[in-house]
Amino acid sequence: MVTLPAQGCLRNLSLPRPWLHSLRRTASVASASLPDPLTEDPPREATASSSKPASSSYFPKKNQTLELECLSLAFKGKGVCKVADSGFVVMCDRALPGERFIGRVTRRKGNYAEVAKVKTIDPHWDIVEAPCEYASYCGGCKTQNLLYEAQLRAKEQQVYELIVHVGRFSNKDLELHNIMKPIVPCDVQYHYRNKMEFSFGSQRWVPKELLGEKLNGTDNYALGLHAPGFFDKVLNVNNCLLQSDPANKVLDTLQECWRDPELGLSPYDVHSHAGFLKHLMLRSGRDVATGRPELMVNFVTSSYKPELLKPLVDKVSSFPEVASIVNNVNTSIGNTSVGEEEYTLYGKPTITEMLRGLSFQISANSFFQTNTRQAEVLYKLIEECVGLKGDGSEIILDLFCGTGTIGLTLARRVKHVYGYEVVPQAISDASVNAGLNGICNTTFIQGDLNKIDENFGRDFPKPDVVISDPNRPGMHMKLIKFLMKLKASRIVYVSCNPATCARDLDYLCHGVADLKIKGCYELKSVQPVDMFPHTPHIECVCLLELR
Ligand SMILES: C[S@@+](CC[C@H](N)C(=O)[O-])C[C@H]1O[C@@H](n2cnc3c(N)ncnc32)[C@H](O)[C@@H]1O
Repeated sequence: MVTLPAQGCLRNLSLPRPWLHSLRRTASVASASLPDPLTEDPPREATASSSKPASSSYFPKKNQTLELECLSLAFKGKGVCKVADSGFVVMCDRALPGERFIGRVTRRKGNYAEVAKVKTIDPHWDIVEAPCEYASYCGGCKTQNLLYEAQLRAKEQQVYELIVHVGRFSNKDLELHNIMKPIVPCDVQYHYRNKMEFSFGSQRWVPKELLGEKLNGTDNYALGLHAPGFFDKVLNVNNCLLQSDPANKVLDTLQECWRDPELGLSPYDVHSHAGFLKHLMLRSGRDVATGRPELMVNFVTSSYKPELLKPLVDKVSSFPEVASIVNNVNTSIGNTSVGEEEYTLYGKPTITEMLRGLSFQISANSFFQTNTRQAEVLYKLIEECVGLKGDGSEIILDLFCGTGTIGLTLARRVKHVYGYEVVPQAISDASVNAGLNGICNTTFIQGDLNKIDENFGRDFPKPDVVISDPNRPGMHMKLIKFLMKLKASRIVYVSCNPATCARDLDYLCHGVADLKIKGCYELKSVQPVDMFPHTPHIECVCLLELR
């Protein structure tokens, strides 16, 4: 196993807190941006100190070219690389373990530098041919050309490093108690996503070699994925290997017609804020009665003009799989796909999907696990960690419950499930989903778990098990404090960001010195799960038991 180089300053974690924040932030260089749950912004001292270079005298200059070797992959898929002579650490997008290459320094960042790859000298280990035609440009799945087993090894290693360096769990303890479990692979490595969101753009991204060719008018329009690093340029995509076949058919059909000048459709321009079409979201599910695929097509537009969308609606509604066409109208200048208003243009306003024997109704904007098949695996692992007694006596608190899927899959074997979630539509979907499955022992409450006060916890009895499944920033310190006071016998922490997960595990187990809070949990297991092959994303299921 390759370890992160010492230049990342991952050692010496007994330093005073502001420095610790800084060092752990630097550790997360190789992992992810690590928001601080203590404050909205990073502590001032930490910010200042983290902008200083490492004590090493060597620091490359901007635009300097370096010979580099990629040692490992960091969270977000960047390669952790070493400068050939000095051992200085740099990060490089799309560098893969084992690769030797020439990189140009693009910017200094705290204790390390970022480089752009100029030329590969020796290719990476475990090279395979990427099946997707867009693989070398698209930001969606950057590691398609890395053997899947090597992707798994890299993900497993990242989680391990973060648990040790950010979570401050000793290698010895992890090994002695068999805490780190081997990553669970994803059996299906393409077409696994049930939701893809494409953007319309007025500036098509083209590879460097085609930059000289002038694109005029609608030829410059694109529908696809944002080119990495460009918020205003869109890589045109006709077929995405991550989504289902029916979704690809719809995408291809829309690509054939949406630029037709006769339709008078224009992509939204992020600079001038003019234009109509913002995003196209395609969501795949299944008819729960027949098991046949169901597709939702969601047009996100800057205004409500159904007559403009009608020709597109007429085209795609002819596909038997298309069960729902909705229009989210988002008048803001932001890039979000959630509309202030939603209109159903064809069929039903929701689609359905089955998970662990239950039916779920999903609307355009509610969270639903994006890899349904692997969610079955994930939820089984969660269930094993929850470890129900089987006598139906337990109370479950399902934090960040989304459409209630985790809690609902457990509800039949417990006394009651209380779910909390910020998105109102997800909460109403969760209640509908409970009804749909004849489940009566659940209560779903809308609320912001970053803004809880001392009254939080008065609406439910003390839970036996807390399941917490936050999004990438992890848990807010207010919630961590609440959990430390609540002292449920088990916490099952499900995370899509191992960096914030490691940070929160550290707080729950080792305490928060700044706030004079003692840790009261013991880490029993960390189970990485690959939900998203070829992407840098890693899911983890962690079990904590009250000491
Ligand atoms: C990773 S998803 C988990 C959803 C659900 N547990 C599941 O498995 O489908 C995280 C959820 O947290 C919700 N969320 C994000 N920030 C939140 C907050 N501050 N308070 C409450 N819920 C929040 C999101 O809307 C999303 O539904």
